[in-house]
Amino acid sequence: MVKYRDDVVGLDAAIMMNTKVWEASGHVDAFTDPLVECKICHSRFRADKEEEIKAHEKTHKEKVEWTEPKSFNLLVEAYLGVAEPKQKVYLRGEITQGAFVNFENVVNSTRVKIPFGIAQIGKAFRNEITPGNFTYRSREFEQMELEFFVEEKDADKWFKFWKSERLRWYESLGIKKENLRMRSHEKGELAHYAKAAEDIEYNAPFGWSEFEGVHNRGDWDLSRHKLTYKEEGKEFTPWVIETSGGVDRSTLFFLLDSYHEENGRVILKLHPKLAPYKAAVFPLLANKPELVEKAKGIYDSLKKDMMVAWDDRGNIGKRYFAQDEIGTPFCITVDFQTLEDNTVTVRNRDTAKQERLKIQELPDFLSKKLS
Ligand code: GAP
Repeated sequence: MVKYRDDVVGLDAAIMMNTKVWEASGHVDAFTDPLVECKICHSRFRADKEEEIKAHEKTHKEKVEWTEPKSFNLLVEAYLGVAEPKQKVYLRGEITQGAFVNFENVVNSTRVKIPFGIAQIGKAFRNEITPGNFTYRSREFEQMELEFFVEEKDADKWFKFWKSERLRWYESLGIKKENLRMRSHEKGELAHYAKAAEDIEYNAPFGWSEFEGVHNRGDWDLSRHKLTYKEEGKEFTPWVIETSGGVDRSTLFFLLDSYHEENGRVILKLHPKLAPYKAAVFPLLANKPELVEKAKGIYDSLKKDMMVAWDDRGNIGKRYFAQDEIGTPFCITVDFQTLEDNTVTVRNRDTAKQERLKIQELPDFLSKKLS
Protein backbone atom coordinates (compact mmCIF):
# COMPACT_ATOMS: atom_id res chain seq x y z
CA MET A 1 0.00 0.00 0.00
CA VAL A 2 2.51 2.60 1.15
CA LYS A 3 5.83 1.73 -0.49
CA TYR A 4 4.71 0.61 -3.92
CA ARG A 5 1.74 2.91 -4.61
CA ASP A 6 2.36 6.55 -5.50
CA ASP A 7 -1.19 7.50 -4.52
CA VAL A 8 -0.99 6.29 -0.90
CA VAL A 9 0.89 7.80 2.05
CA GLY A 10 1.59 6.20 5.43
CA LEU A 11 0.57 7.56 8.83
CA ASP A 12 1.02 6.62 12.48
CA ALA A 13 -1.66 8.52 14.43
CA ALA A 14 -2.35 8.69 18.18
CA ILE A 15 -3.89 5.84 20.17
CA MET A 16 -5.50 8.04 22.85
CA MET A 17 -7.77 10.69 21.43
CA ASN A 18 -10.02 13.40 22.74
CA THR A 19 -13.59 12.25 23.40
CA LYS A 20 -14.77 14.91 20.92
CA VAL A 21 -13.22 12.94 18.06
CA TRP A 22 -15.37 9.96 19.00
CA GLU A 23 -18.48 12.05 19.51
CA ALA A 24 -18.04 13.52 16.01
CA SER A 25 -17.34 10.12 14.45
CA GLY A 26 -20.56 8.71 15.91
CA HIS A 27 -18.83 6.05 18.01
CA VAL A 28 -20.01 7.40 21.37
CA ASP A 29 -23.64 7.02 20.29
CA ALA A 30 -23.56 4.13 17.87
CA PHE A 31 -20.50 1.89 18.41
CA THR A 32 -22.48 -0.69 20.35
CA ASP A 33 -23.21 -4.39 20.48
CA PRO A 34 -26.44 -5.84 21.89
CA LEU A 35 -25.71 -7.51 25.24
CA VAL A 36 -27.82 -10.13 27.06
CA GLU A 37 -27.20 -11.64 30.49
CA CYS A 38 -27.93 -15.19 31.65
CA LYS A 39 -30.29 -14.84 34.65
CA ILE A 40 -28.83 -17.96 36.31
CA CYS A 41 -25.05 -17.22 36.32
CA HIS A 42 -24.94 -13.59 35.10
CA SER A 43 -22.58 -14.42 32.20
CA ARG A 44 -22.90 -11.87 29.42
CA PHE A 45 -23.09 -12.57 25.69
CA ARG A 46 -23.66 -10.78 22.43
CA ALA A 47 -27.34 -11.17 21.62
CA ASP A 48 -26.53 -11.62 17.91
CA LYS A 49 -24.20 -14.60 18.52
CA GLU A 50 -26.86 -17.33 18.50
CA GLU A 51 -24.42 -20.25 18.56
CA GLU A 52 -22.58 -18.95 21.62
CA ILE A 53 -25.92 -18.42 23.38
CA LYS A 54 -27.10 -21.94 22.54
CA ALA A 55 -23.78 -23.42 23.73
CA HIS A 56 -24.12 -21.54 27.02
CA GLU A 57 -27.70 -22.75 27.53
CA LYS A 58 -26.40 -26.33 27.35
CA THR A 59 -24.08 -25.67 30.33
CA HIS A 60 -27.12 -25.31 32.67
CA LYS A 61 -29.50 -28.15 33.63
CA GLU A 62 -32.44 -25.77 34.09
CA LYS A 63 -34.03 -23.67 31.35
CA VAL A 64 -32.04 -20.47 30.86
CA GLU A 65 -33.79 -17.11 30.90
CA TRP A 66 -32.10 -14.08 29.37
CA THR A 67 -32.39 -10.35 30.10
CA GLU A 68 -33.69 -8.10 27.32
CA PRO A 69 -30.83 -7.01 24.96
CA LYS A 70 -29.13 -3.75 26.07
CA SER A 71 -26.81 -1.62 23.92
CA PHE A 72 -23.25 -1.92 25.19
CA ASN A 73 -20.65 0.63 24.01
CA LEU A 74 -17.35 -0.93 22.94
CA LEU A 75 -15.07 2.11 23.38
CA VAL A 76 -12.38 1.70 26.06
CA GLU A 77 -12.01 4.70 28.38
CA ALA A 78 -8.80 6.05 29.93
CA TYR A 79 -8.07 9.07 32.12
CA LEU A 80 -5.16 11.47 31.58
CA GLY A 81 -3.56 14.35 33.46
CA VAL A 82 -2.44 15.09 37.01
CA ALA A 83 -5.20 17.46 38.14
CA GLU A 84 -8.65 16.27 39.23
CA PRO A 85 -10.94 15.77 37.48
CA LYS A 86 -8.72 13.97 35.03
CA GLN A 87 -9.43 14.28 31.33
CA LYS A 88 -11.38 11.37 29.89
CA VAL A 89 -10.05 10.02 26.59
CA TYR A 90 -10.88 6.96 24.52
CA LEU A 91 -8.37 4.41 23.27
CA ARG A 92 -9.04 4.27 19.54
CA GLY A 93 -11.82 1.80 18.72
CA GLU A 94 -10.67 1.86 15.09
CA ILE A 95 -7.39 3.29 13.83
CA THR A 96 -9.41 5.01 11.12
CA GLN A 97 -10.31 8.26 12.87
CA GLY A 98 -6.60 9.19 13.10
CA ALA A 99 -6.49 9.35 9.30
CA PHE A 100 -9.43 11.77 9.22
CA VAL A 101 -8.31 14.14 11.97
CA ASN A 102 -4.87 14.28 10.27
CA PHE A 103 -6.39 14.76 6.80
CA GLU A 104 -5.31 18.41 6.49
CA ASN A 105 -1.80 17.69 7.82
CA VAL A 106 -1.36 14.99 5.19
CA VAL A 107 -2.71 17.06 2.30
CA ASN A 108 -0.60 20.09 3.25
CA SER A 109 2.63 18.24 3.92
CA THR A 110 2.64 15.59 1.18
CA ARG A 111 0.73 17.59 -1.48
CA VAL A 112 -1.25 14.50 -2.57
CA LYS A 113 -4.19 15.03 -4.89
CA ILE A 114 -7.50 13.22 -5.02
CA PRO A 115 -7.80 10.29 -5.60
CA PHE A 116 -5.30 9.36 -2.85
CA GLY A 117 -5.15 7.23 0.25
CA ILE A 118 -3.84 7.29 3.82
CA ALA A 119 -2.74 3.88 5.10
CA GLN A 120 -2.01 2.91 8.69
CA ILE A 121 -1.26 -0.11 10.81
CA GLY A 122 -1.62 -0.14 14.58
CA LYS A 123 -3.41 -1.18 17.74
CA ALA A 124 -7.13 -0.72 18.27
CA PHE A 125 -9.08 -1.48 21.45
CA ARG A 126 -12.64 -2.65 21.97
CA ASN A 127 -14.40 -3.75 25.11
CA GLU A 128 -15.62 -6.92 23.37
CA ILE A 129 -18.35 -8.77 25.26
CA THR A 130 -17.05 -12.22 24.36
CA PRO A 131 -13.41 -12.38 23.22
CA GLY A 132 -12.45 -15.80 21.87
CA ASN A 133 -11.47 -18.22 19.12
CA PHE A 134 -7.73 -17.80 19.76
CA THR A 135 -6.70 -14.36 18.43
CA TYR A 136 -9.86 -14.00 16.35
CA ARG A 137 -11.71 -11.72 18.75
CA SER A 138 -9.63 -9.88 21.33
CA ARG A 139 -9.93 -6.62 23.24
CA GLU A 140 -6.55 -5.34 22.02
CA PHE A 141 -5.80 -6.07 18.38
CA GLU A 142 -3.95 -4.76 15.36
CA GLN A 143 -5.66 -3.22 12.35
CA MET A 144 -4.27 -2.41 8.88
CA GLU A 145 -6.30 0.11 6.99
CA LEU A 146 -6.48 2.26 3.92
CA GLU A 147 -8.72 5.33 3.77
CA PHE A 148 -8.94 6.21 0.06
CA PHE A 149 -10.35 9.69 -0.73
CA VAL A 150 -12.28 10.07 -3.95
CA GLU A 151 -14.87 12.24 -5.66
CA GLU A 152 -18.43 11.04 -5.08
CA LYS A 153 -18.91 10.19 -8.78
CA ASP A 154 -15.96 7.76 -8.64
CA ALA A 155 -16.87 6.04 -5.36
CA ASP A 156 -18.44 2.88 -6.90
CA LYS A 157 -15.51 2.38 -9.26
CA TRP A 158 -12.97 2.54 -6.42
CA PHE A 159 -15.12 0.34 -4.16
CA LYS A 160 -15.01 -2.38 -6.84
CA PHE A 161 -11.29 -1.84 -7.43
CA TRP A 162 -10.33 -2.20 -3.75
CA LYS A 163 -12.52 -5.29 -3.26
CA SER A 164 -10.72 -7.20 -5.99
CA GLU A 165 -7.33 -5.76 -5.08
CA ARG A 166 -7.64 -6.93 -1.47
CA LEU A 167 -8.74 -10.43 -2.50
CA ARG A 168 -5.80 -10.61 -4.89
CA TRP A 169 -3.42 -9.50 -2.11
CA TYR A 170 -4.55 -12.24 0.29
CA GLU A 171 -4.32 -14.89 -2.44
CA SER A 172 -0.87 -13.67 -3.50
CA LEU A 173 0.37 -14.25 0.05
CA GLY A 174 -0.99 -17.76 0.38
CA ILE A 175 -4.63 -17.77 1.45
CA LYS A 176 -6.32 -20.52 -0.58
CA LYS A 177 -8.93 -19.30 -3.05
CA GLU A 178 -11.44 -21.89 -1.85
CA ASN A 179 -11.17 -20.55 1.71
CA LEU A 180 -12.03 -16.98 0.69
CA ARG A 181 -15.35 -15.35 -0.07
CA MET A 182 -16.93 -11.89 -0.12
CA ARG A 183 -20.17 -11.25 1.74
CA SER A 184 -22.21 -8.13 1.26
CA HIS A 185 -23.77 -6.47 4.34
CA GLU A 186 -27.56 -6.36 4.53
CA LYS A 187 -29.07 -2.91 5.07
CA GLY A 188 -29.73 -3.46 8.81
CA GLU A 189 -26.22 -4.82 9.34
CA LEU A 190 -24.32 -1.75 8.08
CA ALA A 191 -22.12 0.15 10.55
CA HIS A 192 -23.31 3.67 11.37
CA TYR A 193 -20.78 5.20 8.96
CA ALA A 194 -21.25 2.84 5.98
CA LYS A 195 -23.20 3.34 2.77
CA ALA A 196 -22.09 -0.07 1.50
CA ALA A 197 -19.90 -2.80 3.00
CA GLU A 198 -18.48 -6.14 1.97
CA ASP A 199 -16.70 -8.51 4.29
CA ILE A 200 -13.82 -10.69 3.18
CA GLU A 201 -14.44 -13.99 4.96
CA TYR A 202 -12.29 -17.05 5.60
CA ASN A 203 -13.53 -20.61 5.95
CA ALA A 204 -12.24 -21.06 9.52
CA PRO A 205 -12.63 -24.23 11.62
CA PHE A 206 -15.22 -22.21 13.59
CA GLY A 207 -17.21 -21.22 10.45
CA TRP A 208 -16.95 -18.54 7.75
CA SER A 209 -15.43 -15.55 9.54
CA GLU A 210 -14.87 -11.92 8.59
CA PHE A 211 -11.29 -10.68 8.66
CA GLU A 212 -11.43 -7.58 6.49
CA GLY A 213 -14.15 -5.11 5.57
CA VAL A 214 -14.23 -2.99 2.42
CA HIS A 215 -16.52 -0.04 3.11
CA ASN A 216 -17.96 2.89 1.24
CA ARG A 217 -18.02 5.45 4.09
CA GLY A 218 -19.45 8.19 1.86
CA ASP A 219 -18.66 11.67 3.20
CA TRP A 220 -19.70 10.65 6.72
CA ASP A 221 -16.39 11.12 8.51
CA LEU A 222 -14.95 14.21 6.86
CA SER A 223 -18.24 16.07 7.07
CA ARG A 224 -18.62 15.13 10.77
CA HIS A 225 -15.10 16.48 11.40
CA LYS A 226 -15.97 19.54 9.27
CA LEU A 227 -13.10 18.95 6.82
CA THR A 228 -13.05 19.70 3.12
CA TYR A 229 -10.62 19.38 0.23
CA LYS A 230 -9.65 22.28 -2.01
CA GLU A 231 -8.17 22.00 -5.49
CA GLU A 232 -8.04 24.35 -8.46
CA GLY A 233 -10.81 26.64 -7.39
CA LYS A 234 -13.22 23.95 -6.17
CA GLU A 235 -13.89 22.82 -2.61
CA PHE A 236 -15.77 19.66 -1.67
CA THR A 237 -16.06 16.90 0.91
CA PRO A 238 -14.39 13.78 -0.47
CA TRP A 239 -15.95 10.35 -0.17
CA VAL A 240 -13.98 7.57 1.46
CA ILE A 241 -13.49 3.99 0.33
CA GLU A 242 -11.94 2.02 3.16
CA THR A 243 -10.22 -1.34 3.37
CA SER A 244 -10.00 -2.37 7.02
CA GLY A 245 -8.18 -5.60 7.82
CA GLY A 246 -7.29 -7.36 11.06
CA VAL A 247 -3.64 -8.29 11.37
CA ASP A 248 -4.33 -10.85 14.11
CA ARG A 249 -7.19 -12.45 12.19
CA SER A 250 -5.38 -12.65 8.87
CA THR A 251 -2.25 -13.97 10.60
CA LEU A 252 -4.35 -16.73 12.15
CA PHE A 253 -5.69 -17.62 8.69
CA PHE A 254 -2.29 -17.39 6.98
CA LEU A 255 -1.03 -19.83 9.63
CA LEU A 256 -3.94 -22.22 9.04
CA ASP A 257 -3.41 -22.29 5.26
CA SER A 258 0.34 -22.79 5.53
CA TYR A 259 0.26 -25.55 8.14
CA HIS A 260 1.35 -28.92 6.73
CA GLU A 261 2.16 -32.25 8.30
CA GLU A 262 4.43 -34.55 6.31
CA ASN A 263 5.67 -37.91 7.66
CA GLY A 264 4.82 -36.83 11.21
CA ARG A 265 6.68 -33.51 10.88
CA VAL A 266 5.27 -30.02 10.82
CA ILE A 267 6.17 -27.71 7.94
CA LEU A 268 4.84 -24.16 8.04
CA LYS A 269 4.75 -23.25 4.35
CA LEU A 270 4.38 -19.52 4.93
CA HIS A 271 4.91 -17.24 1.97
CA PRO A 272 8.56 -16.06 2.27
CA LYS A 273 7.34 -12.47 2.63
CA LEU A 274 5.42 -13.46 5.76
CA ALA A 275 7.99 -15.81 7.27
CA PRO A 276 9.43 -14.25 10.48
CA TYR A 277 12.94 -15.46 9.60
CA LYS A 278 13.85 -15.29 5.91
CA ALA A 279 16.85 -17.61 6.29
CA ALA A 280 18.79 -19.55 8.90
CA VAL A 281 22.56 -19.98 8.97
CA PHE A 282 24.31 -23.00 10.47
CA PRO A 283 27.90 -24.21 10.80
CA LEU A 284 27.84 -27.95 10.00
CA LEU A 285 29.67 -28.70 13.26
CA ALA A 286 29.60 -26.43 16.30
CA ASN A 287 32.97 -27.66 17.58
CA LYS A 288 34.98 -26.60 14.51
CA PRO A 289 35.91 -22.92 15.08
CA GLU A 290 36.78 -22.36 11.41
CA LEU A 291 33.23 -23.42 10.34
CA VAL A 292 31.63 -21.34 13.11
CA GLU A 293 33.64 -18.25 12.21
CA LYS A 294 32.79 -18.53 8.52
CA ALA A 295 29.08 -19.08 9.25
CA LYS A 296 29.00 -16.15 11.71
CA GLY A 297 30.41 -13.90 8.97
CA ILE A 298 27.56 -14.87 6.61
CA TYR A 299 24.98 -14.49 9.40
CA ASP A 300 26.27 -11.03 10.40
CA SER A 301 26.28 -9.76 6.84
CA LEU A 302 22.77 -11.08 5.92
CA LYS A 303 21.12 -9.83 9.11
CA LYS A 304 21.73 -6.21 8.09
CA ASP A 305 19.04 -6.64 5.41
CA MET A 306 16.64 -9.26 6.80
CA MET A 307 15.71 -11.32 9.84
CA VAL A 308 18.09 -14.30 9.95
CA ALA A 309 18.16 -17.14 12.49
CA TRP A 310 21.31 -18.74 13.89
CA ASP A 311 21.47 -22.30 15.18
CA ASP A 312 24.47 -24.45 16.09
CA ARG A 313 22.81 -26.90 18.45
CA GLY A 314 22.11 -30.60 17.79
CA ASN A 315 22.54 -32.27 14.43
CA ILE A 316 21.84 -30.61 11.11
CA GLY A 317 18.62 -32.61 10.48
CA LYS A 318 17.08 -31.40 13.73
CA ARG A 319 18.02 -27.83 12.91
CA TYR A 320 16.29 -28.10 9.51
CA PHE A 321 13.15 -29.50 11.12
CA ALA A 322 13.07 -26.75 13.76
CA GLN A 323 13.25 -24.09 11.03
CA ASP A 324 10.57 -25.91 8.97
CA GLU A 325 8.22 -25.71 11.95
CA ILE A 326 8.55 -21.92 12.24
CA GLY A 327 8.38 -21.40 8.49
CA THR A 328 11.95 -20.31 7.63
CA PRO A 329 12.09 -20.71 3.83
CA PHE A 330 15.90 -21.21 3.44
CA CYS A 331 18.62 -22.85 5.53
CA ILE A 332 22.23 -22.02 4.68
CA THR A 333 24.91 -24.45 5.86
CA VAL A 334 28.64 -23.85 6.04
CA ASP A 335 30.57 -27.14 5.64
CA PHE A 336 34.16 -28.17 4.92
CA GLN A 337 33.78 -27.47 1.20
CA THR A 338 32.94 -23.85 2.10
CA LEU A 339 36.46 -23.44 3.50
CA GLU A 340 37.89 -24.53 0.15
CA ASP A 341 35.68 -22.80 -2.44
CA ASN A 342 33.46 -20.26 -0.58
CA THR A 343 30.24 -22.08 -1.48
CA VAL A 344 27.41 -23.07 0.90
CA THR A 345 24.40 -25.34 0.69
CA VAL A 346 20.98 -23.68 0.56
CA ARG A 347 18.08 -25.93 1.53
CA ASN A 348 14.55 -25.10 0.40
CA ARG A 349 11.92 -25.62 3.14
CA ASP A 350 9.13 -26.78 0.80
CA THR A 351 11.07 -29.19 -1.43
CA ALA A 352 13.84 -30.18 1.07
CA LYS A 353 16.17 -29.92 -1.97
CA GLN A 354 19.63 -28.41 -1.59
CA GLU A 355 21.70 -26.40 -4.03
CA ARG A 356 25.25 -25.04 -3.78
CA LEU A 357 25.74 -21.32 -4.15
CA LYS A 358 28.69 -18.98 -3.85
CA ILE A 359 28.57 -16.88 -0.67
CA GLN A 360 28.52 -13.66 -2.68
CA GLU A 361 25.43 -14.89 -4.60
CA LEU A 362 23.37 -15.24 -1.40
CA PRO A 363 22.00 -11.66 -1.06
CA ASP A 364 20.81 -11.62 -4.67
CA PHE A 365 19.35 -15.14 -4.44
CA LEU A 366 17.42 -14.29 -1.26
CA SER A 367 16.17 -10.91 -2.40
CA LYS A 368 14.75 -12.49 -5.60
CA LYS A 369 12.99 -15.21 -3.58
CA LEU A 370 11.59 -12.69 -1.12
CA SER A 371 10.21 -10.19 -3.62
N1 GAP B 1 -12.47 1.12 10.33
C1 GAP B 1 -13.48 0.16 10.11
C2 GAP B 1 -13.46 -0.90 11.08
O1 GAP B 1 -12.81 -0.80 12.11
P1 GAP B 1 -14.45 -3.27 11.59
O2 GAP B 1 -15.17 -4.23 10.68
O3 GAP B 1 -15.10 -2.94 12.88
O4 GAP B 1 -14.20 -1.97 10.71
C3 GAP B 1 -12.12 -4.07 10.80
O5 GAP B 1 -13.00 -3.83 11.87
C4 GAP B 1 -11.30 -5.32 11.04
O6 GAP B 1 -10.64 -5.23 12.31
C5 GAP B 1 -12.13 -6.59 11.12
O7 GAP B 1 -12.40 -7.12 9.84
C6 GAP B 1 -11.21 -7.50 11.91
O8 GAP B 1 -10.25 -8.11 11.07
C7 GAP B 1 -10.51 -6.53 12.86
N2 GAP B 1 -11.16 -6.61 14.18
C8 GAP B 1 -12.26 -5.96 14.59
N3 GAP B 1 -12.56 -6.28 15.87
C9 GAP B 1 -11.63 -7.17 16.27
C10 GAP B 1 -11.37 -7.88 17.49
N4 GAP B 1 -12.12 -7.70 18.57
N5 GAP B 1 -10.29 -8.72 17.56
C11 GAP B 1 -9.49 -8.89 16.48
N6 GAP B 1 -9.69 -8.25 15.30
C12 GAP B 1 -10.74 -7.40 15.19
